[in-house]
Amino acid sequence: MSFLKTWVWAVVIACLLHAPAAADPWTLSNDDGSFTVGGQVPGGVYSDLLAANVLSAGDLYYRYNDLNYRWVSKENWTYSSVLNVDADVLSHARVALVFEGLDTAAEVFINGRGIGKSTNMFARYVFDVKNNLKASSDNSIDIWFESPLEYSKRQYDIQSADYVVPPKCLPAAYQGECHANHIRKMQSAFSWDWGPAFPNSGVWSR
Ligand SMILES: *[C@@H]1O[C@H](CO)[C@@H](O)[C@H](O)[C@H]1NC(C)=O
Repeated sequence: MSFLKTWVWAVVIACLLHAPAAADPWTLSNDDGSFTVGGQVPGGVYSDLLAANVLSAGDLYYRYNDLNYRWVSKENWTYSSVLNVDADVLSHARVALVFEGLDTAAEVFINGRGIGKSTNMFARYVFDVKNNLKASSDNSIDIWFESPLEYSKRQYDIQSADYVVPPKCLPAAYQGECHANHIRKMQSAFSWDWGPAFPNSGVWSR
């Protein structure tokens, strides 16, 4: 019984990721702040930038827009919002923030402090946040996503010091990106024979 009680976390703040009833509860920005647009959670940077007309050459699948829009995947992107937390939530023994799908290499900040990192798009991440939240309607949450191309290249550089895991790159005709096998991410995001490369970032599930 007491075991149960300890684990009755505040019916988890994942609900809070449904966020306030504002039109655009999340904003999306890159590291140097040259782009700040409304963001959707769940969603991804390509669809948010398309909706904001930052990607102004039209549909993602039109002609060579996979190449025209490739710069998106070379940026780091941050989804930001606020969490409304009342004192009841914080009275529980444990308060956890649950992510069902972070795509992919990310660090989560609550009120400016890092509370956890993810490197696997397919895994659920549970972060303890009781000590980072205040009973307030404006706890900031920022989810920083490193460029998947940069992350996977770094992992490749580290791992390949021992031996190379093929394929190092895809056939040139795919017009894709290398090192998909060094990131726990949907592999076709770096292109496949049947599809273009759109190495996305974002919260794909909640
Ligand atoms: C992305 O973040 C990494 C790690 O902090 C940094 O080295 C890199 O310069 C950033 N890239 C851009 C385009 O801001």
